[in-house]
Amino acid sequence: MKFDTQKVLSSEAFPTILERNLSRRGFLKSTSMLASSSILAGCMSNAQSIGKNSGALNFKEVKQGLDANLTLAENYNSQVLLRWGDALFPHSPNFDFSNQNQTSQELQFGYNNDFVGFIPLPLGSNRSDHGLLVVNHEATDPHLMFKGIKNAKGLNKTQTDIDIAAHGLSVVEIKRQMNEQGFYWQLILDSSFNRRITPWTDMAVSGPAAGHQRMQSKLNPSGRTSKGTYGNCAGGVTPWGTVLTAEENVDGFFTGDLTETNEQESLKRFGFSKDKKSWGQYYARWDLNKDTAEAFHAGWIVEVDPFDPNSKPVKHSALGRFKHEACNLHIAQDGTVIAYMGDDQAFEYIYKFVSKHKYKPGNDAQTRAHNKQLLSEGTLFVAQFKDNNQLTWLPLIYGEGPLTKANGFSSQADISIDTRKAADLLNATPMDRPEDVEVNPVTGKVYVMLTKNKARKPHQTDGVNPRSNNKAGQVIEIIADDADHKLDTAKWELMLLTGDPTSMVTFYHPATTQDGWLACPDNCAFDNTGNLWIGTDGCEAFDIANGLWACATEGEDRGLTKRFLRTPKGAELCGPFFTPDNKSLFCAIQHPGEDGSLENPDTRWPDFSPDLPPRPAVVAISHRSHKVVGS
Ligand code: FEO
Ligand code: CA
Ligand code: CA
Repeated sequence: MKFDTQKVLSSEAFPTILERNLSRRGFLKSTSMLASSSILAGCMSNAQSIGKNSGALNFKEVKQGLDANLTLAENYNSQVLLRWGDALFPHSPNFDFSNQNQTSQELQFGYNNDFVGFIPLPLGSNRSDHGLLVVNHEATDPHLMFKGIKNAKGLNKTQTDIDIAAHGLSVVEIKRQMNEQGFYWQLILDSSFNRRITPWTDMAVSGPAAGHQRMQSKLNPSGRTSKGTYGNCAGGVTPWGTVLTAEENVDGFFTGDLTETNEQESLKRFGFSKDKKSWGQYYARWDLNKDTAEAFHAGWIVEVDPFDPNSKPVKHSALGRFKHEACNLHIAQDGTVIAYMGDDQAFEYIYKFVSKHKYKPGNDAQTRAHNKQLLSEGTLFVAQFKDNNQLTWLPLIYGEGPLTKANGFSSQADISIDTRKAADLLNATPMDRPEDVEVNPVTGKVYVMLTKNKARKPHQTDGVNPRSNNKAGQVIEIIADDADHKLDTAKWELMLLTGDPTSMVTFYHPATTQDGWLACPDNCAFDNTGNLWIGTDGCEAFDIANGLWACATEGEDRGLTKRFLRTPKGAELCGPFFTPDNKSLFCAIQHPGEDGSLENPDTRWPDFSPDLPPRPAVVAISHRSHKVVGS
């Protein structure tokens, strides 16, 4: 049992912890609100402010609701930019639902778009009308891709090969034009940058685990090369124009009997066991009993250089191996690179990486080559939260504290491979499923989306995870001491306790409307004035659609969430990502209609054709009068 009472930072009852946490900052209006378990709306304007006001969020809020359509705030327009099966190259075949094959899929946009990054062209510019769009394809929904398929284990070899090819990433050059409906984007299909990265793309491994004996698989005998990426959830864009893609639920791609391997403890701690996919039936690399070490080639942060379509993506083992949700960077004043990351599973941890070498501005080949090495060497830390709002970053260094041979570690490579085990031994704080972790570019404060954790029992609650049976998640803020993200101490605040305020204890701004509440925060982004935009996955459990909400993070409206968008039924909201001018917003609509069947889907968005299933797609959103998104 991973969670023991020794590790619980507080066994106080929820109201006591929350009351103290909030009243300390003058948030609490009355304890009777807590007792009634209704909305807990505090005076959030009393929050410590650094005096910077975000841009006004004047859009007219979208009503709560749940239907087959994508619904936007008034005066906004969306363009379906890329759907599953859309062409990425001049020679890509047209999407033919009844005649799919692996070759076509490798030339087309993949399934279940998650992360979206826009990198201006030319490299190093701040242009908003021309750039590269890089998109993750996290997973598939085979029951909506293939006729007669009920689950992902029932695929034949041909379907499996299509399924594999629908994973990975897409890179495509796009250009923006204006019209009377807002902006619209053109795909540049003959661009030399366009690329599909799949689970078969050649990659390299960097950092402590590169070449280690546990990485020496039959497929990758040197342990320094790797084959492909899959389970790519969210990610981040680096200041040097590369993309970090996060390998998340990779255990679900493997089959096999753990007890028949010599890595049972390690595989079990990661979560291998699910046997959800057919891939291992046809390929030894996904069968734990045929090529165990291949499991250690998955679960990393992978750096992709979209400016060189022939480049080998790099799996950065220094950033640890776990169910990586995303990876977002902050550059400290002295050039040190800080990477913030969440491990998205119940009771898992929040991490940060601090680079050994410094970032150099500039985009010439030599400078870029230097910057592309920065995530290969440094120190990985894991977060320990105290109920007094202090946070300590604990270093995961071989030979220090319990991270020794006595506990089964022989080198830093073992810590990279078995990061969760190392973090367990350091008494890191088990969280309510850390999803996106991002730094506000205006204030330098860090925001963590904790999506939910129904398994948390009352005796396992603490200040930062204050609700047992947590169905709706929370948003927390981390403030680096002295604004120095390299330091191993910081403060934390509870910013939002999300969920339906009519049926559970929540914490919102007092002016939050009936349409402004949300549940299960997942992805997030900041506009260039520091407003926080929150995407959700899980709202349908509360009978409202997932979507996108925006709020200020400072000033009187701090935490005043407003609904901007509603996803079609079944979908979660991924991306989101702004162009530098904030006039275009890219959102990935992932798994629309997922709960329905091919014959009877909950939606056929975005085509609404009786012959086509619902299709995951990236949309580009803009104001009809070309204003900044949010105004
Ligand atoms: Fe892939 Fe944690 O969402
Ligand atoms: Ca996510
Ligand atoms: Ca999710």
